[in-house]
Amino acid sequence: MLNFSRSRTQTRSARSLSLGGMDYTDPKKKHSIVGKIILAATLTAICIFMLKQSPSFSSPSVFSRHEAGVNHVLVTGGAGYIGSHASLRLLRDAYRVTIVDNLSRGNIGAINVLQELFPEPGRLQFIYADLGDPKAVNKLFSENAFDAVMHFAAVAYVGESTLDPLKYYHNITSNTLGVLEAMASHGVQTLIYSSTCATYGEPDKMPITEDTPQVPINPYGKAKKMAEDIILDFCKNSDMSVMILRYFNVIGSDPDGRLGEAPRPELREHGRISGACFDAARGITPGLQVKGTDYKTVDGTCVRDYIDVTDLVDAHVKALEKAKPGKVGIYNVGTGKGRSVKEFVEACKKATGVNVKVDYLSRRPGDYAEVYSDPTKIRLELNWTAKHTDLQKSLEVAWKWQKAHSNGYGPLGGVAS
Ligand SMILES: NC(=O)c1ccc[n+]([C@@H]2O[C@H](COP(=O)([O-])OP(=O)(O)OC[C@H]3O[C@@H](n4cnc5c(N)ncnc54)[C@H](O)[C@@H]3O)[C@@H](O)[C@H]2O)c1
Repeated sequence: MLNFSRSRTQTRSARSLSLGGMDYTDPKKKHSIVGKIILAATLTAICIFMLKQSPSFSSPSVFSRHEAGVNHVLVTGGAGYIGSHASLRLLRDAYRVTIVDNLSRGNIGAINVLQELFPEPGRLQFIYADLGDPKAVNKLFSENAFDAVMHFAAVAYVGESTLDPLKYYHNITSNTLGVLEAMASHGVQTLIYSSTCATYGEPDKMPITEDTPQVPINPYGKAKKMAEDIILDFCKNSDMSVMILRYFNVIGSDPDGRLGEAPRPELREHGRISGACFDAARGITPGLQVKGTDYKTVDGTCVRDYIDVTDLVDAHVKALEKAKPGKVGIYNVGTGKGRSVKEFVEACKKATGVNVKVDYLSRRPGDYAEVYSDPTKIRLELNWTAKHTDLQKSLEVAWKWQKAHSNGYGPLGGVAS
């Protein structure tokens, strides 16, 4: 007797029956298998279609492969003041640029300006990532083929560094170590590192040469010095091409008025002298406070070396061009000329046309009297000299941008609200 009944425990895969020596398949089962095959095929087709639509499948990003004749530079901190100006210059000089920034201090508005200026595919990409996140850094380097890194990203306020030193050691020292490790493991050969005259501390002798002993006196300067030391130690057994640029006080902005300096309002209290001067000229603050009038300087106020950002980024491009495998170049980037705070304030008044109210107060602890560079080495070796050395003119350019952008790059740094 044929038994058509099926035990409840019979497995689905054992559903075919034997009829008089012939294999008989349950028609319902046949339908379900066919249905499943069709479903699987449809899903596979949809997946393939979707993958093909994704840019990384149909055309791998041009940023992910090296291309003959194209120099691809990773600009860390490219949404910030100096990094955005450097990106503009690199793009103008036909470099391919990837900007990475966590927008903690920079402005997406600056990225938007650059993207509008260089919309062609393969020129500029922006990656939102935090250099303190090792996974994000590894992804950044795995998915892109960089020829060089300009490492600007950093927190960069001396005053803030004394209040929150660990933030500075993490963000500057530890993140530089992470970038360096990623460069080494992904074979990126060239590093241009943003350092600072704050690594010298309070030298006895002026002007400061590259051989002046580095004895930093605040966590910002110390963090940068440690980052320099890490780079130098690594380079003893590496053929990486490295340039360390120690900037003095950076001022000015793009002469064509496309970019400017727009720090977050909450950082104003730690701000730099040009920002403070412009804020006073705009009436955001009641006036300027100059601290210290009894230093042994020409007029009793502190003396600093102000370098225009246009000259500074020019030094970066020259450094990039002249970087050599297995060599570390260390250069001061300054004008070689010290200007007193009083001189600066007068230039600022003229540049803004506002008779800014100035209060002269007693010294601020930790300020040093005079700091200015000897830029001979960079002139001789990189053929670089500061050209924009008229303080008033640099401030006029910066003021023009400030006046046209009373809200910086806009609310939230340029993010449409
Ligand atoms: N401005 C100066 O006068 C001066 C002087 C000497 C050296 N420097 C150095 O130049 C570099 C640039 O300074 P700046 O004045 O343009 O500062 P900035 O604050 O305008 O720019 C720094 C950028 O780095 C980004 N950033 C910070 N931490 C990051 C992180 N963990 N991951 C990703 N992005 C991050 C910020 O969002 C910002 O866009 C810094 O390394 C600074 O120490 C500046």
